[in-house]
Amino acid sequence: MSVVLVTGGARGIGAAIASRHVAAGDCVLVADVDDAAGERLVLELGPRAHYARCDVTSEDEVRACVAHAEQHLGPLDVVYANAGAAGVTGRLESTSLQDWRQTVDLLLTSVFLTVREAIAVMRPRGRGAIVCTASVAGVRGGLGPHVYTAAKHGVVGLVESVAVEVARYGLRINAVAPGGAVSSLTAGLMSGDGDDLQAAYDRLAATSASGVPTTADDVADAAMFLGDPRSSRINGTCLVVDGADYVPSQRGLPYYS
Ligand SMILES: NC(=O)c1ccc[n+]([C@@H]2O[C@H](COP(=O)([O-])OP(=O)(O)OC[C@H]3O[C@@H](n4cnc5c(N)ncnc54)[C@H](O)[C@@H]3O)[C@@H](O)[C@H]2O)c1
Repeated sequence: MSVVLVTGGARGIGAAIASRHVAAGDCVLVADVDDAAGERLVLELGPRAHYARCDVTSEDEVRACVAHAEQHLGPLDVVYANAGAAGVTGRLESTSLQDWRQTVDLLLTSVFLTVREAIAVMRPRGRGAIVCTASVAGVRGGLGPHVYTAAKHGVVGLVESVAVEVARYGLRINAVAPGGAVSSLTAGLMSGDGDDLQAAYDRLAATSASGVPTTADDVADAAMFLGDPRSSRINGTCLVVDGADYVPSQRGLPYYS
């Protein structure tokens, strides 16, 4: 049995990670700011799932959340730094400094805080895995909003850099980079209603290389592989999970066969 912390675990990809870990017999702390969704999910998942409110942009709350997991569930085996949202959108010249900072706080500083607290408890034990949710927009530009893209590139860079430091302590850190995946985030962007998952499914299916959209479960499976001892030699990587949707030829760029 593993002990797992999932930030942004109340909905979407995080909820899929939490559900799959519970189904595998693990103990999970779902950390989120959406208390209603978080509490509903853990009720559904049963006694191995717990909920704690944690705003991942708050240093104190992230520290308290990791301490809560260790005290009440046991030593953490896997930490998923997953929470996020689209952040500020629109033209760069109309992006305010405040909006920039809020989005970078949510998507990048939050990952720094979660990763730092995870390492602090895992390093003395010499074991543990951290998986950060980046995005295809963290690997290539031109796919998402500007600040989102910059922050997710930061997540990928942080993962690569920190892996080199923590490898010698027996720890691993990797990133998973979803393409467009069906979740509240994409439903909100595509239909204006975060609960309209069907709208996201339909839109993503229409633009997908395979005709089938990536689901939160697809991303969860890849993230969980990176958190599992079976991937013990994988460290500092970013695993794209997009069903080939974002390879250049799909986007009308030249393809030389
Ligand atoms: N769905 C996609 O297409 C897609 C693609 C690439 C990357 N991602 C990334 O996947 C991650 C999860 O997104 P999702 O698609 O499952 O979205 P989602 O909206 O379904 O879930 C995100 C969760 O994060 C929580 N959250 C938001 N702000 C928070 C905060 N300050 N503190 C704690 N929790 C907070 C939300 O309440 C929600 O439960 C994000 O980092 C997102 O950027 C998603």
